Amino acid sequence: MHLERVDGYLAEHAHEFEEQLKDLIRIPSISAQPDHDADTRRAAEFLLKDLKDIGLKAELIETNRHPLLYAEWLDAPGKPTLLIYGHYDVQPPEPLEPWNTPPFEPTVKDGNLYARGATDDKGQMFTHVKAVQAWLKAVGSLPVNVKLLIEGEEEIGGANLENYVATHAKWLECDYAVISDTSQFAPGQPAITYGLKGLAYFELIVKGANRDLHSGTYGGAVANPLNALSTILASLKGPDGRIQIEGFYDAVKPLEDWERAEFRKLPFSEADFQADLGVSQLVGEEGYTTLERKWARPTCDVHGLYGGYSGPGPKTVLPCRCGAKFSFRLVPDQDPKTLEKLVRDHVAKVCPPGVTYELIAHHGAPAVLVDVKTPGFRAAVRAVEAGFGVKPVFIREGGSIPVVGLLKEHLKVDTLLLGWGQNDDNLHGPNEKFSLADFHRGIKSSAHLFEELAKEATTTS
Ligand code: BES
Ligand code: MN
Ligand code: MN
Repeated sequence: MHLERVDGYLAEHAHEFEEQLKDLIRIPSISAQPDHDADTRRAAEFLLKDLKDIGLKAELIETNRHPLLYAEWLDAPGKPTLLIYGHYDVQPPEPLEPWNTPPFEPTVKDGNLYARGATDDKGQMFTHVKAVQAWLKAVGSLPVNVKLLIEGEEEIGGANLENYVATHAKWLECDYAVISDTSQFAPGQPAITYGLKGLAYFELIVKGANRDLHSGTYGGAVANPLNALSTILASLKGPDGRIQIEGFYDAVKPLEDWERAEFRKLPFSEADFQADLGVSQLVGEEGYTTLERKWARPTCDVHGLYGGYSGPGPKTVLPCRCGAKFSFRLVPDQDPKTLEKLVRDHVAKVCPPGVTYELIAHHGAPAVLVDVKTPGFRAAVRAVEAGFGVKPVFIREGGSIPVVGLLKEHLKVDTLLLGWGQNDDNLHGPNEKFSLADFHRGIKSSAHLFEELAKEATTTS
């Protein structure tokens, strides 16, 4: 009965929700770029106002950088409490050249909304806000208590959220947590994600002589930092796709047989995957399928290199300084701190003579695996089916969402990862998009999740 009214409200306000999402997306809340700090705050204020208009108690929580947004509606005594997490910050849109339409001018084409932040995470996060709105406006109450925590530093791996969660465990106490910041398995096939990779991110700066040198006059007699850096980077991975850092695999939890069997059952074509990307072949750790490599095996990738000359034409320079950014995606039970030590030992061992270096470890995150045999998971399966008309499959993801580990550690709660995105949504890349149909299905799933969680609670207690 209530749900009928909620669903009716959603249908009536579908267009209005889209326009509101576009307004939020127009705000370039690029957390990494200090020039956009005022915009980033404006996105938080936009949401603050919306949450207050809907009828929640909401406030901005100041940090030393971008504010956190907290809101709550706790008028369902005796009912479970759901914590909803999302992030209002976005990745930088650069490079701008490959964008077909400006990144902060949301544009609809073929049912997709194109803009930076469309899927990651403004569009996905907003589905829960609108679901809360539908209940409060159409019914006047929610079947569960809700707390919302919306962050502005997810894309820069800020430490502020970690501090907040660690010191406000009691305040954030909840029975369930939900995050929509992942993807479906395929168009028309929704999924619930039960595993995420962790991340350990490094920057290595290599230094040689006290000034840039002529490579003819000095080359061969003085160490070249770029050569040394290349040697170090090349030592990280072997031709078999295995990471060659001593002890790297010690804590890796092997894939379970049932998981490998489930992955194999999913309708995934390696040939289509390869064709879509235009690569000559797929590569990776020997003995594992593409889905296993993507979802459940640790990886190592170089993300950026600087130093020397890369302008037009040749320049025979022997650079005095260069650097690289690289990271490892981790799986359970690898620990980012332990890995940092292993990486330090490895670089010390393989670094060629004649150079010095500095290794910086950026903020990391542990991998997570969520228990799928919980009342919350059962409720989520029904809610997603109600929203999408199809039962969700269970998948893992190669991406990282640091808060999931924090919620587990400090609140002892497993997160329901209900992703409304598509794999080709181009998150972090040019022409990011989000399907408007998925946006509305996501809102409906969220609205039903509240009801289904309340039902689980009464049927299990
Ligand atoms: N929404 C993504 C995580 C994600 C990516 C989930 C791909 C599923 C598929 C999130 O905003 C993100 O970008 N996370 C960062 C981690 C962070 C510490 C910068 C990532 O995975 O690189
Ligand atoms: Mn995200
Ligand atoms: Mn992201």
